[in-house]
Amino acid sequence: MKGNILVVDDEQVVLKSCERILKPEGYGVDTSGSPAEALEMMDRNGSYDLVITDIKMPGMDGIEFMRRVRQKRPDVSIVLITGYPSQESIREALALRIVDYLPKPFSPALLIEVAQKAMEFSKKTQKPEVQDYTEETAAKLDDIINRYKTKPGSLIPVLQEAQELVGYLPPAVQRHIARGLNLPVSEVHGVVSFYSFFTMKPKGRHNVRVCLGTACYVKRSEEILAKLRDRLKIDIGEVTPDRKFSLESVRCLGACGLAPVVVVDKDTHGSVNPVKALDILAQYE
Ligand code: FES
Repeated sequence: MKGNILVVDDEQVVLKSCERILKPEGYGVDTSGSPAEALEMMDRNGSYDLVITDIKMPGMDGIEFMRRVRQKRPDVSIVLITGYPSQESIREALALRIVDYLPKPFSPALLIEVAQKAMEFSKKTQKPEVQDYTEETAAKLDDIINRYKTKPGSLIPVLQEAQELVGYLPPAVQRHIARGLNLPVSEVHGVVSFYSFFTMKPKGRHNVRVCLGTACYVKRSEEILAKLRDRLKIDIGEVTPDRKFSLESVRCLGACGLAPVVVVDKDTHGSVNPVKALDILAQYE
């Protein structure tokens, strides 16, 4: 599949024609007649590469909708469908970094051209994902999928091996797996978001987890976290530029007797204080 597109327009005829034109071109296409529903769909399926939206819709206008889309997915490409836009709305749309716009009514050829351009733009802006998802990785992922393809309940083991291979499960990997196992992307995304051992964020070679559960918190684990943040110069959920360390906070690691607790990879360190936390970090330098 060339990528996933979400089309939002209150006119059914527009939704139907986008589907009819784009699907044979190799795109996954979801449609919605309501901006509120489309935002929920984005929550359920984080892997859209492109959102094509009307500017005038009942309930929520296109500008407000695009603003919310940007909050959810700063990197997604947006194309605006519009009849006669005002200078004001075009200015606002450009400020929201639309890739292009489609004047209504649009021809199939123009829709395909604009979608193609927006997809290329989307690939360029999703750099971290592209870095991890090389052709070599994609080929190895195919090997994993082929080993499980015919077995029932194959999704979880495939996701586990894919996470071991890539380090995390970005949208491109989820789409690849959905395609390979012939499952909807939303199902793959649902499983990835449900189980805490799957992650959609990249991790460093050493993953540092600081417990902020009650037993650790009362023993000032927040100060440990602050110290590690300062030393690594990253925030929770981030990775150092050399990808050596990533930092997470967690709620109870099940070792409350050792509070406050820091876990690095699979090693549990108990009775940690801010100074000891830096010594621990040095062991993994
Ligand atoms: S609260 Fe930290 S290990 Fe339980």
